[in-house]
This record gives sequence, C-alpha cells and structure tokens, in this order.
Amino acid sequence: MPYDIEDAYGHLLLSRGARLESEEQRQRLIHIGRKPYNVASRRSQSGGVTKRRNDPAAQFLNPFDELYRISLALQETFKWLGRGKFMRRLDILVSRIGNIIEHDPDASIGAAHLDEEFPYFIRHPLRKALLSDTVAARMEIPDQERRSIVTAALTANIGMIEYQEEFDQQRAPLDEYQWEVVRNHPRRSVERLLAEGMEDRLCLRVVSEHHERLDGSGYPEGLRSRDICRGARLLMISDTYMAMITNRGYKGATAVREALLELLDQSGVKYDRDILSGFINTIGIYPAGSFVSLENGEKGVVIHRGSKGASPVVAAIIKANGQPTTRPLLRDTSIDDVPGVVSLEPTPSVAKRYQLASLWGYDA
Ligand SMILES: [Fe+2]
Repeated sequence: MPYDIEDAYGHLLLSRGARLESEEQRQRLIHIGRKPYNVASRRSQSGGVTKRRNDPAAQFLNPFDELYRISLALQETFKWLGRGKFMRRLDILVSRIGNIIEHDPDASIGAAHLDEEFPYFIRHPLRKALLSDTVAARMEIPDQERRSIVTAALTANIGMIEYQEEFDQQRAPLDEYQWEVVRNHPRRSVERLLAEGMEDRLCLRVVSEHHERLDGSGYPEGLRSRDICRGARLLMISDTYMAMITNRGYKGATAVREALLELLDQSGVKYDRDILSGFINTIGIYPAGSFVSLENGEKGVVIHRGSKGASPVVAAIIKANGQPTTRPLLRDTSIDDVPGVVSLEPTPSVAKRYQLASLWGYDA
C-alpha cells in the first residue's frame, strides 16, 4: 500500500507499506477506507451538478447507493444483537457513515430527508446518525466524540427494538405498558450495549441521555441542563427533527419549516441554544432534500444549501405549468437573476420516485 488508509474520523486502518492479506480485507477497505486528506474527494463548494462517471471513487461513494447498502447492513447488524458480532459490525457502519458525509454532506442530508425504502427502525437511526455527524463535523466536534455520537445515534433505541415497528404502525395512542417501554428504553439500550461489550463510555452516556431535556422535562431521569452531555444535546435535536418530518402510522409528517420553528421555539428551554443554531446553520432553512417552489412557479428539490443558507441550489423538476421537466434544471438561487425560493412544500411523490442520485450528479 503506497499510503496510509484511514476512516473518516482519522482512525488508521492500514499503514503505508502494509500488505493486503485477503480479498475480504480489500473489500472492507473499499467500503470504509480513504487516503488521508484526500481533498480531491470532497465535493466542490460551487453547488453545481457534476457528473461523476469518471471518478473511480464515486463508484462506491455514490451516497445513495452506499446508504442503501448501509441500511441493509444495519438491518443485518441488529440481527446479531446478543449473538456476538454486533459491536464489530457496528464499528464498520460508523466508519462508512463518516465517509459518506465527508464525501458529500449535501447528498447525505438530502438522502436523510428523502430516502424512504426501509422500515422506520432502520431509517430513523441512520437519518439521525447522518444529520448528527454532519452537524458535529461542521461544529468541529473532535473526531472521537463524533464517532461516539454516531454510534449512539445508531443504537439509542435498541432497548425497544422489538416494539419499534408495532409502535410506528399503531394508530391508537400508546397504552400504559407501551409508555413504560418508551420511558425505559434509554436504560434498556445501555444495558444491551453493555451486554454486547460496548466500552465507549461517552456513547453509553449519550444513549442514556438522548431523551432528557435541558428544562428537566425529559426522561428517564429528568436531568437538567448541566447534567446532560454535549453529544446528547445534539442527538436529541437530530432525533426530534427527524421524528417530526417523518410520516408515521399515527401522525403525518410535519413540514420542514414547522419542524425548525418548533425547535427554535424551545431554544434555550429544552434544547441547547448553541447546538440548535449549529444544527440550523448546517442544514440551512431550506435543507438539502427538501422540496421548494420558486418565484417563477417551478418546483424542485434542494440539492445544496448554498453559500447563504437562505439561497439554496435547487434541481427544478416541475415546470411552472405543473408538468414534469424532461431533466432536472439547476437553479442557483443565490445568483441575482435566478428566481428565488418562495416556500417550502411537502415533498410530492413525483420527487420521491425520481432517480434521487441523479439530482446530485451521480449516475443512477
Ligand atoms: Fe430514543
């Protein structure tokens, strides 16, 4: 190997000069490895749609394909709970999530908003892991802490994993027993992680505190601000935001704008003011993956938050006359003579059926 290989958090996976021992090791490095400081793999800040056909790294770093594979792998990993290989599989997934974000944060946030293929108990942990890690990276939270937060995001609900689908589909309010399961799940998740051999104390703490709130209104302990760690303060925001904007059996999705306003309403009360502003600064008020209408009547998907959070780059897919466009039309709304964004809209099914990867310039 002519250079060191590390994961997105800077963990050394293979030293320069080392030999690859097996095909399995080669495959694993393809998934989670990168050359250190490989700035060429970073997305350009221009926000333009670029074709990646000739970029060999993009073959395995198409974030939409990779997220699909990670979702399958997470489903598989959960089956290993209590059977011995859970932690090792989990570690690999955390590295792979870091790599998608490093490669293309906008597409990662877009995929987190739009991807709906998997059941909630797979989608939700992945979505909040993607968001939390993107925000943590932008807020320059140290790599090891980021890794702990992502691990916590993936595992915070394993304490009620056997009930998750049932709760998600149920239209009636939760009964007393079900509420007890919910209130206890942070404790139960920690117990399960300890039984798997989890040694990351910070991750365990984030899991145990992810439903606490700064004003003491959370659960299971009713902790107050100073007792809640930074990772939990971040995870509670990603968790609540993602839960709000997702369609569930018992409630429709809240629009992105309302979700952000609801969080802001509790800024400094339930949620940490600085972390919430870091969260909104990262995803912008028109997050990648949200659906907007433009001043000229076109509608489309935000693919890049833009240099100013309020002026995103939009791939217009519906013309002013309501007909779909033949191909996505790029609208950088920060440019003076390009129509600006009028409003955020609920994402229509036409956008969800679209080849999402192609909107971000990846071959579908
Ligand atoms: Fe939870």
